[in-house]
Amino acid sequence: MDIFESMESEVRVYSRSFPILFNRAKNAHLFTENGDAYLDFLAGAGSLNYGHNNELFKAALLEYIQEDGVSQGLDLYTRAKADFISSYKRLILEPRGLDYKIQFTGPTGTNAVEAALKLARKVKDRSNIISFTNGFHGVSLGSAATTGNKTIRRGAGVSLNDVNFMPYCDYLGEDVNTIDLMDKMLSDPSSGIECPAAVIVEAVQGEGGLNVASAAWLKGLERLCRNHDMLLIIDDIQAGNGRTGDFFSFEEAGVYPDLIAVSKSLSGFGLPMAVVLMRPELDMWSPGEHSGTFRGNNLAFVTARAAIEHYWKDGQFLEEIRKKSYILRQRLTAICEQYPSGEFRFKGRGMMCGISCKTGEMANQISKCAFNKGLMIETSGANGEVVKCLMPLTIDEKDLLTGLELLSSSVGQVFQQQTKRAS
Ligand SMILES: Cc1ncc(COP(=O)(O)O)c(C=O)c1O
Repeated sequence: MDIFESMESEVRVYSRSFPILFNRAKNAHLFTENGDAYLDFLAGAGSLNYGHNNELFKAALLEYIQEDGVSQGLDLYTRAKADFISSYKRLILEPRGLDYKIQFTGPTGTNAVEAALKLARKVKDRSNIISFTNGFHGVSLGSAATTGNKTIRRGAGVSLNDVNFMPYCDYLGEDVNTIDLMDKMLSDPSSGIECPAAVIVEAVQGEGGLNVASAAWLKGLERLCRNHDMLLIIDDIQAGNGRTGDFFSFEEAGVYPDLIAVSKSLSGFGLPMAVVLMRPELDMWSPGEHSGTFRGNNLAFVTARAAIEHYWKDGQFLEEIRKKSYILRQRLTAICEQYPSGEFRFKGRGMMCGISCKTGEMANQISKCAFNKGLMIETSGANGEVVKCLMPLTIDEKDLLTGLELLSSSVGQVFQQQTKRAS
């Protein structure tokens, strides 16, 4: 590890949780040089929904490279981009009755968020944005301004302005409808809230601790946006691409966002790619107004198309995700119920769920214990108190059950250790 510890910046994070040298990866496993296998319940922080080195995309990618296909294309017209857009329109947008134009942004999630925020501000000619408690939208300055996390905000080094934070669904308890609260504040000319250009929201908060917005709350938020002339931006970067049991996380709520930020698993292969989907009438950009060199990762377009053509051509993959989601919910709930005094709680939706612990320390110990048993699993939440399952959606059922067994024994071990220490 010397090369990393001496040369790589202190900013590294995942390698601190999983300090081992990996060499190969296949579907839901990472392997060391010695061939030791680790079950991956991290999936590149949600960027590997279709697993590591998916054979279908690998074949398409190798063929494309073999034929000297354009790899980096700026925003030039290329065959790979045309084919991706056509597939996305035909298999994703049209069947869902969605009419969007696509903006290819810089390659990471935060680039898509920056573009969406900038466009919303331009369209409405207003600077204020509403974001939510525990929201996470990236670490570049505009995105960081909409992110609640204190460490990210402090790291910005400048004041982060033009964003008001409002309580997310159930933040004030199940009995308080925070949509009503927002409505009151936005309607009151003396509340101190500047009229916002847009609201940015995750349907399930990933980094914020697997908080789920109910369908009714999201629908209410859409209504609030229409009533107060604000655009609705859904950040589907982590919760999208099938993760919650639909292609888009907001589908079950039946909302029709104005702008959607998409990235992470969009390319299918873990290659960097991000887009903003926008209602056509909002496309008020002038040429080059929001540009960037790496907006044409054609290798990502090839694998993104392969992912859509294979997994989203019919409902089979969705069925598979829903079946695994059911298993996950059952098993995680059973783990929580096994230790009633531990106050563990199931959180999340679809294949984006986990266990909330009493403290961040306990969640961290569970993650460490699991790693010692061969399972990679991270924590999230305001205090890192949620153990978060984010395995590839393509994981074999057998591996899913093995991973959940390892998690179950880790929870038990840490709980017993902590109970013994307390007594
Ligand atoms: C909901 C959400 N938005 C935005 C981002 C930022 O994406 P990236 O890290 O690719 O910039 C993330 C990353 O975890 C995310 O989960």
